Amino acid sequence: MTLYEKLKRYNEKGYSSFHTPGHKCSGFFDGSIIDLDLTELPDTDALFEAEGIIKEEETLFSELYGSAASFISAGGCTLAIQAMIRTAYSPGGKILCARNAHRSAVNAMALLGIDPVWLYPKGTKNYTGRIDPADVERELEACPSIKACYITSPSYYGEISDIRSIADICHRYGVILLVDNAHGSHLAFMKENMHPLYLGADMTACSLHKTMPVMTGGALLNVRTKELAENAKEYMSLFASTSPSYVIMSSLSLCAEYMISGKGREDYLRCEEEVGILKKLAAEKGISSPDGLCDPLRLTLNTAKAGLAGESKQQEFFHRHNIECEFCDGENAVLIFTPFNSKKDFDRVRSAINELGKNKAKEVCRKSFTEKPPEKVMTLRQAVLSPSEKIPVRDSAGRIASDTACPCPPGVPLIMPGERIDEDIAHRMEKSGIAEISVIGKL
Ligand SMILES: Cc1ncc(COP(=O)(O)O)c(C=O)c1O
Repeated sequence: MTLYEKLKRYNEKGYSSFHTPGHKCSGFFDGSIIDLDLTELPDTDALFEAEGIIKEEETLFSELYGSAASFISAGGCTLAIQAMIRTAYSPGGKILCARNAHRSAVNAMALLGIDPVWLYPKGTKNYTGRIDPADVERELEACPSIKACYITSPSYYGEISDIRSIADICHRYGVILLVDNAHGSHLAFMKENMHPLYLGADMTACSLHKTMPVMTGGALLNVRTKELAENAKEYMSLFASTSPSYVIMSSLSLCAEYMISGKGREDYLRCEEEVGILKKLAAEKGISSPDGLCDPLRLTLNTAKAGLAGESKQQEFFHRHNIECEFCDGENAVLIFTPFNSKKDFDRVRSAINELGKNKAKEVCRKSFTEKPPEKVMTLRQAVLSPSEKIPVRDSAGRIASDTACPCPPGVPLIMPGERIDEDIAHRMEKSGIAEISVIGKL
């Protein structure tokens, strides 16, 4: 069977989509968009030398997000992250980087030879947690060579860090704040504007395709100041394909039009209310979700505490309700809502919550990510450029990782290149379904 046939068959299953992309294949784009698979022509402008229509589109996004400048990416949020990391680079300067960074940030730092100062999020799970402003301040105080602070907010589970306080601290120390806002492009269109750029971040990488009606790969780099915007395009082009997809870029164009028309804002506000009702129902049924400030459109259910643990059991349960989640980690199920979910989709989640709510609550205890940070043996760059070999994860304790090892999603490394793998991490990797890992070759 070809991939094409496989995808068609998958669609025939009729699951409600609570995963990316945000358009949910709901008909927001009509089939004719494929006829726009053009290239850089005199009439169609050029992404990295934009002077015409692409520049106009970028200006529309800049108005929507209130940025000094916004730059289109057809290479996902990864490209925006790479450009942010390049912006943060300065000879001798350091980056304070939240340890739950996506692998795209880690890879960019490795390639650019940046050795980060890791900042551990407050939280009890592997990929989750918020960054505590006090921790940022402590690190900035201790290390004057830090020039940039890089954090991920919202987390994969929807937790939002206190961006305003972190931005204030960074600016007091003359440090730029870079936010991987891959999962939060829609936050500017909630009842309360929760977008990190609005709250003071200097640059944000936003995967519009995850939560907005944009095709996979469509993203934005938003920049708060003219000074930082000056080189941003050049830094993006350093990592980008020279053939950006015009289909993806046209989908961004349709999204901008939809949001500017006012209909988009209305739809997103309605969706916020409707998801709020489901969140309330889950709470009433005793199904816990992350505490504190969270993405209003993300439903994270701790199904394990409601008696449903283990990835395959979670998947079987949600498939029985005709639901495809964004991610099940054995304990939590993560569901992404957008206005492109239908009433039927909402009904299915309601019925799943009602069924889960009949289970007996269970105590779940998981080890903290920060209990014992792994030993760092060499820099990211030294590790990724060293000769390496692939070995089974079960034999990896004691060896030094040469690559990030992460379950994807969420794409957050359990071990960083250059760190020594211990028994605990090897066990976690195996439990996350990672069978093999690249390690530094034996000399
Ligand atoms: C937190 C985070 N950052 C960055 C990325 C990369 O985004 P993209 O797939 O748009 O390149 C992802 C992808 O899942 C992500 O979850």
